[in-house]
Amino acid sequence: MAKLIYSAITSLDGYIEDGEGNFDWGAPDEEVHSFINELERPVGTYLYGRRMYETMVYWETVQAFADQPPCVQDFTVLWRAADKIVYSKSLETVSSAKTRIEREFDPRAIQEMKAVREHDITVGGPNLAAQAFNAGIVDECQLFLTPIVVGGGKRSLPINIRLELELLSERRFRSGVVFLHYRR
Ligand SMILES: NC(=O)c1ccc[n+]([C@@H]2O[C@H](COP(=O)([O-])OP(=O)(O)OC[C@H]3O[C@@H](n4cnc5c(N)ncnc54)[C@H](OP(=O)(O)O)[C@@H]3O)[C@@H](O)[C@H]2O)c1
Repeated sequence: MAKLIYSAITSLDGYIEDGEGNFDWGAPDEEVHSFINELERPVGTYLYGRRMYETMVYWETVQAFADQPPCVQDFTVLWRAADKIVYSKSLETVSSAKTRIEREFDPRAIQEMKAVREHDITVGGPNLAAQAFNAGIVDECQLFLTPIVVGGGKRSLPINIRLELELLSERRFRSGVVFLHYRR
């Protein structure tokens, strides 16, 4: 059975983007990027809210592939290989391969997908993930805590929900980023 995983790069005070909508402070360096690639490699399907998709679709069109560092080339290949489902009422077309649009987020359909898929599924951004948390279908949570306090913005974890988590692993990176891997 596949797992549903929420993965996010977050500030120390719990925001995936700051009050101005920036998240450049969370850009992974080569060490973190290579680690993320290993986490993403077994993922077969990405569930995206429309906003997250609009950011991530960059990887479909990234230019000058050969000039990119190996970790970026690697991520590009594995991102393109995965299936993507974009949740949106407004999006008319998608601009990446292996991608379909869903008009409603149906937790039962995700549970059915988990039961038949061999490869894990991830969900993002936090708006869509909050719906999955509220429906009780998120199995694991992977957070990259970045050593910055941004004071406000978009929260990485939903409010008004109580989750008891078991720490599965952790890792500290040279940049001061700390990876925390939890199971529900
Ligand atoms: N920290 C980082 O490393 C990082 C990395 C990448 C991106 N980001 C940022 O993360 C942010 C993600 O934002 P977010 O979490 O607010 O947005 P999101 O969940 O990615 O997208 C929200 C949109 O998804 C659609 N949607 C949500 N629930 C739906 C449902 N039940 N049925 C149908 N459609 C649904 C709606 O699209 P429609 O309006 O089209 O209906 C909604 O406006 C972006 O601003 C992005 O720039 C951060």
